[in-house]
Amino acid sequence: MSIEQLAETALAMVAPGKGIIAIDESTGTIAKRFAGVGIENTEENRRAYRELLLSTPKLNEYISGAILFDETIRQKTKDGVPFAKYMADNGMIPGIKVDKGTHALAGFPGEVVTEGLDGLRARLEEYYKLGARFAKWRAVINIGDDIPSGTCIEANAHALARYAALCQEQGLVPMVEPEVIMDGNHDIETCYEVSEVTLRALFDALYNQNVALEGTILKASMVLPGKDCDEQASVDEVAEATLMCLKSAVPAILPGIVFLSGGQSDDDATAHLDAMNRMGPNPWPLSFSYGRAMQSAALKLWSQDLTGNYAAAQATVYERAKANGLAALGQWTRG
Ligand code: 13P
Repeated sequence: MSIEQLAETALAMVAPGKGIIAIDESTGTIAKRFAGVGIENTEENRRAYRELLLSTPKLNEYISGAILFDETIRQKTKDGVPFAKYMADNGMIPGIKVDKGTHALAGFPGEVVTEGLDGLRARLEEYYKLGARFAKWRAVINIGDDIPSGTCIEANAHALARYAALCQEQGLVPMVEPEVIMDGNHDIETCYEVSEVTLRALFDALYNQNVALEGTILKASMVLPGKDCDEQASVDEVAEATLMCLKSAVPAILPGIVFLSGGQSDDDATAHLDAMNRMGPNPWPLSFSYGRAMQSAALKLWSQDLTGNYAAAQATVYERAKANGLAALGQWTRG
């Protein structure tokens, strides 16, 4: 696989006015989302829900690709078309979550490291054959009393870089995601410092593992005060802090940065992205790879009437895609 092909895929993922929909919840995570709205967590319900999202009419106007879960990339539409083929036929790039989740970091209470490197080369080879062209790995950095430790940041950066190198070897664009978690009462400055040191460690590790940045996408968290912090920040404060942090730690050669929503409200996630793009020009396209901020409204509607609300749920997916697509251009207007 040539770097040129990886770079082409990476650029297509962040094409102007387009972003990614993350529908790669593990079976455990989707169980929580379904439980929240009273849907039974069966394989058929998961399949039907992912089909609703992916078959939203005109989704490809604002969505360049979707991140799938291992089960989902093996599933089909009700008409028997594999989801990855359905996406490719409809101008969307199939992606796949390849990490195996977080586990306690031994010796470091309160901290986690993402696992999944063992056997990853063979899994990537299979995912490529199943149609995936990019792959996501999420690392989790918690903020709290005396955490994160340097050890946690280094361990996660090392794993991200090992996975990214394997992805490129197998022809998949790595979407590297070091998520600094919003939970806690820390202030925005603390989030800034933790985000900066995490990104610096990540790009050092990518360099050390010979990862070609021109064929890599960063999935970043925004610089925000903790959810329980007394002093919340304005939209412009979040946008300025996030931009400054990224500019100080992320090489300009990267084809693009997409954000996770991380528990922000739908409107906040869109407003922050829009503000950052209005503050441009920036060194990279800044777009979205939202999970909850793309899906929550649709899931709620669908759960109230699985057949009756199907089209209405899809309409909200389209609305969220359009709002975020406009925000990726700095052209969104609230309401
Ligand atoms: P949220 O946007 O819900 O944070 O999910 C994005 C994601 O893929 C996290 O890994």
